[in-house]
Amino acid sequence: MKTYISPNYPQLCQAVAQNVIDCVKTKPDALICIAGGDTPLGVFAALVDAQKQGHVDFSRTQFLGIDEWLGLGKADKGSCREMVWHHFFDKLPLRDEQICFFDGLTSDPKAECQRVDRYIDRHGPIDCVVLGIGMNGHIGFNEPGVSLENTCHVVDLDAVTQAVSVKYFDTPREVKQGISLGLKTLLAAKNIVVMASGEKKSAIVAQTVNHPATVDIPSTLVKTVPQAALYVDNAAASAL
Ligand code: PGA
Repeated sequence: MKTYISPNYPQLCQAVAQNVIDCVKTKPDALICIAGGDTPLGVFAALVDAQKQGHVDFSRTQFLGIDEWLGLGKADKGSCREMVWHHFFDKLPLRDEQICFFDGLTSDPKAECQRVDRYIDRHGPIDCVVLGIGMNGHIGFNEPGVSLENTCHVVDLDAVTQAVSVKYFDTPREVKQGISLGLKTLLAAKNIVVMASGEKKSAIVAQTVNHPATVDIPSTLVKTVPQAALYVDNAAASAL
C-alpha cells in the first residue's frame, strides 16, 4: 500500500483534500464518502475553502455518510450527522438530494440499512472514500472481527470505541450500537484514502502497515485492494 507522509496535520489535510478534488474534477457527479470523527475536520475545511476559491465545484457531487451512532441525531453534539453538517455540508451550497446519511434516530435500523444499500445500488460504487482509523483499527464502524461480506449493517460497538466516544460528546452518552457501511461496500470504492494524524495513532498505523491483513484489525484489510493509499502526518508515522 502506498503511504504518503506529510510533515504536519494541515499539510496532510491539504493532500487528502486534493485527492478528493481531483476525483470531483475527473467526475463532477462522483459519489464521495468522508468519515466523521476528528481526523477529517481539516479536510472538510480545505474542501470548503477550495469550493469558495472556485478550485472545485460540488454542485453535481453526491455525498454518502459512512456511519452513525444509533440513538443520536443532528441535535446531539458529537453525532456524525452533527459533525459532518457543522463542518462541511452546512458550509456548501448543497441540495438535500446530494446527500445520503444514516439516520441514527431511526426506529427501524434494518430498514435504514436497506435504504442506504438501495442508494448505493443506484449511485455506487463509491468513487472516493476518506476513512479514519479507530484506535482499535476500525474503519467506519467496522469493528474487530467484522465480516468482509457486510454491506450496511447494525454494529455492536467494541469496548474501545465506546471508551473513545466520550471525546465527541458534551454530555455523557451510552453508545452501544452504531450503523455503518460495510467492508464489502468500502473496499469496492474506486479510490480509498485512509488517513491518520497524531502520535496517538502511531501504534495502530504501524499495525495497519506491518500486520498481515486480518479482520481482527479492520484497517489492515485495505492492503488487500490495490486502490487504497495511506495518508499520515509525521506524528502518526513515527512508529513506522
Ligand atoms: P477520530 O476517529 O478521527 O476521531 O480519531 C477515527 C475513527 O474512529 O474512525
